[in-house]
Amino acid sequence: MGFFGTAASWPADTVLILQVAGFIILLLSIMYAKKKIFLRHFQMARITVSLGVVSLIWMVTSLVDSFQIISSHITVLSSLLTVAHATIGVIAMTTGILLASDSLITKTKTPMRAIFFIWAAALLMGIIVYIKYYLL
Ligand code: HEM
Repeated sequence: MGFFGTAASWPADTVLILQVAGFIILLLSIMYAKKKIFLRHFQMARITVSLGVVSLIWMVTSLVDSFQIISSHITVLSSLLTVAHATIGVIAMTTGILLASDSLITKTKTPMRAIFFIWAAALLMGIIVYIKYYLL
């Protein structure tokens, strides 16, 4: 049983809270970038990525546990949503980690904006997955 009285377990609710909190921190970090306080911007964006990495422990465990059921019912809406979410999520997480660790991706506006939108899409899909699994 989770914190919100839904059918979700506590790890699922924890991931929801961590990822939404991480996204709010990312939005706040963008305010600092707009004020040209870049050190604070990068520090806060790194917190978002760290919360994402911690959340992966549950999301990957859940994906591995449900892999067989998802692959044998791949045309079912919840399976399609999960696969779509995990695919966008892998791209968001990989590019986010590379950006946050100053590796391969240059910290210029275009890649940062693109990664922001991919991250937002992954979060939106994650929230839809949560609603489909635990609220409907
Ligand atoms: C920036 C990247 C990501 C964000 C913002 C994100 C966000 C979320 C959120 C908010 C949920 C709903 C809470 C929950 O049900 O646990 C969720 C669920 C899930 N995510 Fe992600 N996620 C990301 C990356 C990934 C990746 C890389 C994978 C797989 C490799 C993944 C697989 C899953 C799965 C399987 C669930 C359902 C977990 C469950 O059984 O409750 N996600 N995600």
